[in-house]
Amino acid sequence: MTQIKTFSIFRFDPQKDNTHRFETYSVPWHSGMTVLQGLNYIREFLDGSLAYRSSCREGICGSCAMHINGKYRLACETQISGFGKRITIRPLAHLDVIKDLYVDMEPFFNKLKAVKPYLIPGDPDEGEERIQTQNERTHLDYIADCILCAACYASCAVNGTDSDYLGPAALAKTNRFFMDTRDKDDEERLALVAGEHGVFRCHTQFNCQTVCPKNVDPTANIASLKRNIISRQLNPSFNKKGV
Ligand code: FES
Repeated sequence: MTQIKTFSIFRFDPQKDNTHRFETYSVPWHSGMTVLQGLNYIREFLDGSLAYRSSCREGICGSCAMHINGKYRLACETQISGFGKRITIRPLAHLDVIKDLYVDMEPFFNKLKAVKPYLIPGDPDEGEERIQTQNERTHLDYIADCILCAACYASCAVNGTDSDYLGPAALAKTNRFFMDTRDKDDEERLALVAGEHGVFRCHTQFNCQTVCPKNVDPTANIASLKRNIISRQLNPSFNKKGV
């Protein structure tokens, strides 16, 4: 017998609607089916007007993050079987809805750009190739896995109250480069996040840590940046990246 789940989905088209609503769809499902496959079924067979993002379908591109039954998750990595009869889906918070589950990611990426998400190379006489030891690279493993899905950004209460707050993803990315031995300007790197809307706005609520699908742990990265900024203020010769 075919099993059915009820998808209750946030719908809103700012071009036409005054407010949002939830629409329900009956989706036949089988073991192994993901929430993204459920959305694909709805769009293909029930309602072609439903808008959402997805691409890789395997937890790599970061485009399918959304609020699914109380938590931000990747739709392509979330099994339908893990839920009861009803699955409620909302878009990422703190980002304007373009349509339904499809949000404007520009503020998120602008904040990422603001922290210079690339190596600051330092002395050009060092030569073109910057060698890293295996140990130095291993040290970055858990930080470098961010797929920019913005689940952390949407889950962060501070992002909801301070629209200029850089947010967990940009701050974790800052620590990813700060901890990289090839990154050569610690002062500039830390100055980018030491201001009013930087690391010290973080209230350490651990929401970002809880939702990150790649276990990047933005909370720990932000704490590490705070520690380094304060330590250097107390002792300007402090230089400990823990590598
Ligand atoms: S579709 Fe790429 S992470 Fe889900």
